[in-house]
Amino acid sequence: MMNAPRGTQDLLPGVTEQWQYVEEKFKELCRTYNYKEIRTPIFEHTELFQRGVGDTTDIVQKEMYTFQDRGDRSLTLRPEGTASVVRAFVQHKLFGHATQPTKLFYAGPMFRYERPQQGRMRQFVQFGVEALGSANPAIDAEVISLAMSVYQQLGLRSLRLVINSLGDNESRTSHRNALIEHFEPHKEELCNDCQLRLEKNPLRVLDCKKDKDHPSMATAPSILDYLNDASRDYFEQVKQFLDQMNIAYVVDKNLVRGLDYYNHTAFEIMSDADGFGAITTLSGGGRYNGLVEDLGGPETPGIGFALSVERLLMALEAEKQSLPIDTNLECYVVTMGEKADQRATGLVYEMRQAGIQVDKDYQSKKMKGQFKTADRLKTKYVLVLGDNELAENNINVKDMTTGEQETVKLDNVITHIQQLITGGKV
Ligand code: HAM
Repeated sequence: MMNAPRGTQDLLPGVTEQWQYVEEKFKELCRTYNYKEIRTPIFEHTELFQRGVGDTTDIVQKEMYTFQDRGDRSLTLRPEGTASVVRAFVQHKLFGHATQPTKLFYAGPMFRYERPQQGRMRQFVQFGVEALGSANPAIDAEVISLAMSVYQQLGLRSLRLVINSLGDNESRTSHRNALIEHFEPHKEELCNDCQLRLEKNPLRVLDCKKDKDHPSMATAPSILDYLNDASRDYFEQVKQFLDQMNIAYVVDKNLVRGLDYYNHTAFEIMSDADGFGAITTLSGGGRYNGLVEDLGGPETPGIGFALSVERLLMALEAEKQSLPIDTNLECYVVTMGEKADQRATGLVYEMRQAGIQVDKDYQSKKMKGQFKTADRLKTKYVLVLGDNELAENNINVKDMTTGEQETVKLDNVITHIQQLITGGKV
């Protein structure tokens, strides 16, 4: 027997309906916010992520699924969506369109070679949005409000929004220098990765999983103390817009995010639900002014976020929220006799043509067995056709909820069922 690779999963009927439901809700919400769908390839040139996500990140250094194709190109299964969206934005010159910002959303699988555990997969599905072309703090609040709404509209309550500012380039440079000064005396006590990080990108030290308990971490200089006036003002405005929307947040000066492209606003949404598990982050995002330029486009500010469906569904389970999914079958045709069965094949086809959801038996079951199947499928209406009914051009329609049964002319049965389904309101 062969199993699915470690860190991946099969989604079977019974579960796929939940995925469809949350995806539909997310898309509906994006439409409400006027974000349009973009679909980019599952694999990209490796260089895109090296430049986009950043050479010093764990994602690029340790977690990418990278391979040479037969033409000797280095390709990578996308570990996230932002770099691809920005690449497409530049490639198709979306910055030249009359309406800006360009507001895009996506939904699809991402791949990271991580140690699998509850809520951490090697293939996982992200829903995300990116708004490109506006440096207005109101759009930061818009993106955050959209992210929060996905969870709230699905019934989640135990949510915590954590925000921080990583500042502009000037603020980041002074913070960077302060970090180097702070960690330099402890360099030898930090892990090998952090020693390298200290040279290349000291902010990453704050994100280290190995050294997180080192005493120097708690006293590390906070970016918030190094924000210049413009960055501080920007952050204040984002908070004011969130206040206006009545969206509660906590400021966490240690929130740095794991990707290199961020500046100004950074945020994560956490689940505080009991039993959610060790990883409490549901989604994350932030501003990335500069990324479009880094990937060859004109200076364009951007902000976005992404969530994973796996963690969203885990949170729903932890909060015991069930989704209103109706998997009941509308109609099942039960037959008795060969002629009736033949006629039923035609009838089922006609019903499906008319958009009615219907099935029949293909296992040559007796009538009792067919009723059992209809029961298991939680069928709303069972249509019974025997050779006797057929001779009189009739069919019996049984309402499985009330147990009521009526005889209908075969020629009228489709209209009749349509009326039943719509409650007479055709
Ligand atoms: P990220 O924080 O790396 O950001 O991932 C966003 C979300 O994806 C996480 O909060 C988590 O829900 C989910 N996620 C990440 N890795 C895994 C995994 N191995 N298994 C399950 N879920 C996972 C980004 O990817 C950025 N592109 C977000 C963004 C968009 N920033 C700006 N725009």
